Amino acid sequence: MRIGIPKEPYEAQTLVSASPDTVGKLMKLGYDVCIESGAGVSASYFDDAYEAVGASIVSKEEVWGSDIVTCLDTPTDAELALMKRGAVLIARLSPWGNDELINKFHDMGITALAMDAVPRISRAQALDVRSSMMNVAGYRAVIEAANEFGRTFTGQVTAAGKTQPAKVYVIGVGVAGLAAIGTAGSMGAQVSATDVRPEVADQVESLGGTFVEIPVKQQSSDGYAKALDEEQQKLTLAVYTEQAAANDIVITTAAVPGRPAPLLITAEAVAGMKPGSIVVDMGASPLGGNCELSKPGEVIVTENGVKVLGYTDLPSRMPGQASQLFGQNIVNFLKLATPAKDGVLALDMDDEVQRGVAVTLDGDIMWPPPPVKVSAAPAAPAAAEAAEPEQEPEKSAFQKHWWKVLVGILAVALIVGAPPAMANHFIVFMLACVVGFYVITNVTHSLHTPLMSETNAISGIIIVGALLQIVNFDNPVVVALAFVAMTIASINIFGGFLVTDRMLKMFERSSE
Ligand code: NAI
Repeated sequence: MRIGIPKEPYEAQTLVSASPDTVGKLMKLGYDVCIESGAGVSASYFDDAYEAVGASIVSKEEVWGSDIVTCLDTPTDAELALMKRGAVLIARLSPWGNDELINKFHDMGITALAMDAVPRISRAQALDVRSSMMNVAGYRAVIEAANEFGRTFTGQVTAAGKTQPAKVYVIGVGVAGLAAIGTAGSMGAQVSATDVRPEVADQVESLGGTFVEIPVKQQSSDGYAKALDEEQQKLTLAVYTEQAAANDIVITTAAVPGRPAPLLITAEAVAGMKPGSIVVDMGASPLGGNCELSKPGEVIVTENGVKVLGYTDLPSRMPGQASQLFGQNIVNFLKLATPAKDGVLALDMDDEVQRGVAVTLDGDIMWPPPPVKVSAAPAAPAAAEAAEPEQEPEKSAFQKHWWKVLVGILAVALIVGAPPAMANHFIVFMLACVVGFYVITNVTHSLHTPLMSETNAISGIIIVGALLQIVNFDNPVVVALAFVAMTIASINIFGGFLVTDRMLKMFERSSE
């Protein structure tokens, strides 16, 4: 089948849906690829680079007449009119509530696949264009802030004196927020961040930032925030106002699915910021952004010298990288839908990822897809910390620690009742249990992988002990126990190697 890559219809859209690199990958899947002349110029991908990987440079009409067309967003009517019946369109189509568009695809008899509807499940991350774009946008938000900020991000000690690092505060720790935290931190800024989902605190800290607690904590089952009520809004705004005054740069990325961006930084909060401070409102939109003063696409300078950036085209400011990522997402999708790598699209509607993006299939309306259970984010550490908790009655010391007392009594009984030769072993065993319990429960999540290596070392010791015992032919029970111990410890060791191997592979550069 032939895939067409058109030139984007609007000048402001600097991205192209495939880079020469991703075109090469599409061809490896067996597809023939054609590109509209000049389609990649704004992203610095020239026609000859596409030709070098085997694509043909053709006219607009020819591209839109391909079997599969992949572009950034919903095509214009003029472009759609060039598509043939039975063709496949792969783009960000925003099908939610857009019946007119869905009916149009139906009437045209095409298969429309909405890449912005990829379900947010782990398996689908490699093809999630929203995450790719928001990741780029989070990075670019920091670059734009640095560009407008009249000072360095990193603190310096120079002959002329000492300068303090810039303080960056990020509100909303989703994909964009995490990218912004990582970028600002790597540029030397002192970064802090906030989210209504307390489970992201570990992620902020693992990127070197500080998590700022807010008086609202939502227990999220799907990794997304819910809208706040009036009282919660008031409580959070007080923290954001305080933080805005204490920081040099505020980057807001907060979003609630299906709602306009929540208000986080009021005009009053901006008035309290130091002159020269910057607000980057990633939620800026005509419906109102995260900052009361932001205007979409503009930079506002307030009376007290604060700049409020409302850029809505952050990925378009990094067209080369963003196009590469978008194109790679399309490749990853087509890998899934071309299992035989024979250049023939074989959509599988039993696969929840492919089903999730299907708006129409050969003209039949497939939208909306059945709900997909999204990967649950880890629950908040303590429900009791929620915004308006139902106060649980305070537990007595006995209620809290009864099981420890019970284990202690059992341990003493075992040690006292054991044959004298075994007593020492029991003492060591019990102490190991206590130490192990406290080590494992007190080690932070981000250190669980090194902890696993420790347990592998312990498994090694178990195997040595078991080997020493297995020669004890007189006692079949000892031999059996030693054998079981060796088997379980071996599973732990080899399982550990397999997991480590898989993790290391994730960091390998793909040669494809
Ligand atoms: P996301 O949905 O993954 O993350 C949003 C985060 O905000 C979530 O962690 C949520 O818990 C948090 N949040 C919601 N309400 C909050 C509140 N009141 N206080 C604190 N935290 C709150 O979204 P993602 O992918 O990170 O995108 C972030 C934003 O960036 C979106 O609004 C998106 O539309 C925007 N964006 C803007 C671009 C631009 O060019 N300006 C480009 C790409 C994305």
